[in-house]
Amino acid sequence: MAEEMYKKYRPTVLEQVRGQDAAVAMVKNWVARNAVPHAILLTGPSGVGKTTIARILKTLLNCSNIDYVEVNGADDTGIDMVRGIRDKMMAAPFKGSCRIYMIDECHALTKNAQNCLLKALEDTPKHVYFILATTDPTKLLNTIQTRCTEVALKPLSTKHIEDILAYVCKKEKLKISEEVLDKIVKCCEGSARKALVYLDQVMGLEDEEEQLNAITPSSMAAAAFDLWKEFCAPKPQWANVAAVLRELKDDPEGVRRLILACARASLLKPGSKYAARAYLVIDTFRDNLYDTGAAGLAAQCYELCTGVGR
Ligand SMILES: Nc1ncnc2c1ncn2[C@@H]1O[C@H](COP(=O)(O)OP(=O)(O)O)[C@@H](O)[C@H]1O
Ligand SMILES: [Mg+2]
Repeated sequence: MAEEMYKKYRPTVLEQVRGQDAAVAMVKNWVARNAVPHAILLTGPSGVGKTTIARILKTLLNCSNIDYVEVNGADDTGIDMVRGIRDKMMAAPFKGSCRIYMIDECHALTKNAQNCLLKALEDTPKHVYFILATTDPTKLLNTIQTRCTEVALKPLSTKHIEDILAYVCKKEKLKISEEVLDKIVKCCEGSARKALVYLDQVMGLEDEEEQLNAITPSSMAAAAFDLWKEFCAPKPQWANVAAVLRELKDDPEGVRRLILACARASLLKPGSKYAARAYLVIDTFRDNLYDTGAAGLAAQCYELCTGVGR
C-alpha cells in the first residue's frame, strides 16, 4: 500500500506548519535564544500538529533517532513505562547532546504513572527534554501542567485546511472536484489529519457520487448514528451497543449530544415511525456526562437496552 497522505505530507520544518502561528512563533523564539524548555506540553485536538511539532523540535535540537523516544500513554498507561524512562534518562545520549522523550496522550496515564512522570520532570538532567502531548489537558495532573511550558494548538480554520488539501492535490496531481473538497473541509472538524485521510479515501474512487459517499462525518457522529440505529430496533441489543462503545475513543458527552440530535430530528419528523422511541432516548440521555464520562454513557445505553432504572 502507498504511504498514507497524512504521513507523506507531514511538515518537516516550522515554515510548513499551517495555522499555528502562536505556537510556531514560540518555538522559533526558544530556538533563537537557545532556550528550549526541558518540559513542554503540547495541547490541542487530534491532527493539528502536536506530533509534527515534537518531531520538528527533534530536528532543531539535533537529537539523533536513537535518542528520540516516542511512547503513547494510551497504549502504555502504567507506571512501569514511566519508571523505565526515569531509570534510563540519566545516561548520556548515544549520539549528539540530547535525548527527547515524547509522551503522546499523556493524560491517559494512570495517576501513579503521572505522579512518577512528575518526579521525572522534577529531576530532569540537562540533556533530557520531555515533550508531552494531550488532547485532554483537564485529565492531566495539575502539577504536571504547571511544571511544563504549554504550547496550545488550535483546530485549523477552513482556509488552512483548504490550503493543505490544495497543496497535496497539486503535488499528487489529483483532480478532485470543489464539491468533494468542500465536503472534506466540512467533515474534518479542523483536523488536518482527518482531511488527508478523507483525501486518501476519495482518491481511489472514479465517480464523484462515490467520492461524496465515502466522506462520512466524524467517527463520533458515525458512532452516535450506529447507537441511534440500534436504539430504533424493535428490541435494542446490548451486545451490539457494547461493541460500538468498546471502539469509541471520542468524547462521551459529544456522543450523547449527537444521539440527542438524532432523536430530536426523528421526533420532529412528520409521521415519524420512531417518535415514541425518540422520546425514550431523549429521556434516558438527558443527564450530561461531565462527571461520569464513558461509564455514564455506557450506563445510559444499558438502561435504554434493558429498561434497568425505569
Ligand atoms: N498545522 C499543520 N499544518 C500542516 N499539516 C498538518 C498540520 N497539523 C497536522 N498536519 C497534517 O496532519 C498529520 C498529522 O498531524 P499530527 O502532528 O500527527 O497531529 P496530532 O496533533 O494528532 O499529533 C501531519 O502528518 C500532517 O500531514
Ligand atoms: Mg499525535
